[in-house]
Amino acid sequence: MSREEVLRATAEPAEVAEETTLRPRSLDEFVGQARLKEHLEILLAAARQRRQAADHLLFAGPPGVGKTTLAGIVAAELGVGLRVTSGPALERAGDLAAILTNLDDGDVLFVDEVHRLPRIVEEVLYPAMEDFQLDIVIGKGPSARSIRLDLPRFTLAGATTRTGLITGPLRDRFGFVARLDYYAPDELVAIVSRTAGILGVPLAPEGAVEIAQRARGTPRIANRLLKRVRDFAEVRSDGTVSAATAREALALFEVDERGLDKVDRAILTALCDTFAGQPVGLNTLAVAVHEEPETVEDVYEPFLLKQGLLQRTPRGRVPTASAFAHLGLEVRPGKPDTSSSLFDG
Ligand SMILES: Nc1ncnc2c1ncn2[C@@H]1O[C@H](COP(=O)(O)OP(=O)(O)OP(=O)(O)O)[C@@H](O)[C@H]1O
Ligand SMILES: [Mg+2]
Repeated sequence: MSREEVLRATAEPAEVAEETTLRPRSLDEFVGQARLKEHLEILLAAARQRRQAADHLLFAGPPGVGKTTLAGIVAAELGVGLRVTSGPALERAGDLAAILTNLDDGDVLFVDEVHRLPRIVEEVLYPAMEDFQLDIVIGKGPSARSIRLDLPRFTLAGATTRTGLITGPLRDRFGFVARLDYYAPDELVAIVSRTAGILGVPLAPEGAVEIAQRARGTPRIANRLLKRVRDFAEVRSDGTVSAATAREALALFEVDERGLDKVDRAILTALCDTFAGQPVGLNTLAVAVHEEPETVEDVYEPFLLKQGLLQRTPRGRVPTASAFAHLGLEVRPGKPDTSSSLFDG
């Protein structure tokens, strides 16, 4: 399960609905990622001028940084319909064919987790993306024949947390690959302030900074922390989110100054303490922290890597000296081997 799926499974229905209301609807409302926004603006304006469907777009980046949001914005900015599906939901070629033949001209088809499309479905997608044609086989055995259907011109918007898992032929068929990275603290301050405005939460500027610093560079986490701090502020004080309230609340929710949560710290503790700084394989590490290997790899590791707390080596994951320091531990002798990080997988 991805963190989003876990969230969906555990969150109140109201909370899921709230995430939808917090989603920016236009490029103007979308905070940060300046270069990417400019690039998209040009691409969309050109498509509008030519009155054509926009080129196929691939949004790549860690969970919660705005991939789904951007797909919605693309459809809204083009004034076209949005159909939403996901790689694992399309089990058979027929599932995709049914969706494709029901699109209207210019529609955006959003395929979340596009790296998890089954191979047979992916092969149907190639001619659909390239020539807007669908090959279907009718009948079986010697009397089977293949017919070609013309499809409406559509824009495929794919999202993935793992560009490395997308096959070459699929990647090559996207006209534009948008890489979304973690957000800078000032961008997160802007996002939290925007959200506070929508939710009507009184938020002091220093309170916003405090939350932004601990949001792991991720808008979804920033919004979630704001809501939890709001609860705390309403119950324990006058409802205003000041720096002090934010700090107190986040300490209570076990989010530390660097934004690491319980699972992040469990990963570092396993690496530094349990495995004493020796290289550890992904599966072993996942078992040690009671998480799925995919969740460790997609959700937790990218941020720990980015923070310089963990390294991937050919022999496994190792903690860095800063990881030991962050946990207040002595660096163990089986210390990180930096020379091999060149051969990261
Ligand atoms: N640039 C942004 N500006 C303002 N809010 C944002 C921005 N990016 C994301 N958000 C907020 O973060 C939430 C999560 O974003 P979104 O669902 O688009 O992430 P995602 O990349 O699709 O994540 P996942 O990989 O888990 O599907 C949204 O509800 C939205 O409110
Ligand atoms: Mg998404």
